[in-house]
Amino acid sequence: MNYEDLMVAARVISNSTRRTHTVAMVLGSGLGGYGADDSSAIAIPYVDIPGFPVPKVEGHRGTLYSVLPDGSQNGILVFSGRAHAYEGLALDEVVFGVRVAIMSGCRTIVLTNAAGGVSGHLEPGDLVLITDHLNLSGLNPLIGENDNRLGPRFPDMTDVYDPALRDVAQEAAATADVALKSGVYAWFSGPSYETPAEIEMARRLGADLVGMSTVPEAIAARHMGARVLGISLVTNKAAGMSGKPLSHDEVTSAADLARRDLTLIIDRLRDRLV
Ligand code: HPA
Repeated sequence: MNYEDLMVAARVISNSTRRTHTVAMVLGSGLGGYGADDSSAIAIPYVDIPGFPVPKVEGHRGTLYSVLPDGSQNGILVFSGRAHAYEGLALDEVVFGVRVAIMSGCRTIVLTNAAGGVSGHLEPGDLVLITDHLNLSGLNPLIGENDNRLGPRFPDMTDVYDPALRDVAQEAAATADVALKSGVYAWFSGPSYETPAEIEMARRLGADLVGMSTVPEAIAARHMGARVLGISLVTNKAAGMSGKPLSHDEVTSAADLARRDLTLIIDRLRDRLV
């Protein structure tokens, strides 16, 4: 990845859509396909964007949609399906979409994911606003030479998940009559699920949720000065908490069940954010 590659990809998006975009959404398991049915949607398959990594996990589609909310001059870029570190991709590739979106003019990045619930009060189907994260992966997308045109060498991570945006999300959830809890998200690299001992460690360190995504994109977005909002959809109780082994099928079917509520929030959010 270099700056010029990001510019080329941003130019493809602006040439294919002829729109300006101010908000980007990266939708993980459970919301793949959002945007596709919108009458304003312009679809760009990831394979048509130079440099764009194409995700391989089931349940993740590889399409970028440009959506124009009613009455808005500015569009939203919806990344339907994301790349993960556990696919063997370099973290530069994992955060490529977020960087391109910001280069394209997006100042607000909404990240959603499927997560395991570490806090005892979180149940499958719950939606949780991310208030902060723990990076337990040992990885960081900013390792390597810093390009000062993107952001500073040592970016601040005090308010990664923008407090004002969190208020907007709570308001959107309230008008949709959907409960939105709050919690700290811990990033493990995966792809194996965590052990019960790792979950106990994460809990003692302050985690409410665990997952295998979102944190690299959030770090890259803050590096470039964009605002971040994160929402997790709890698909399962984390390892060791339910007495049952974890299965990817369980995760995807819980994600399907909560899709409606998350869609209601996202619908209301997008009109408030553009
Ligand atoms: N752990 C990590 N990632 C996840 C989980 C989990 O329990 N559930 C959904 N994504």
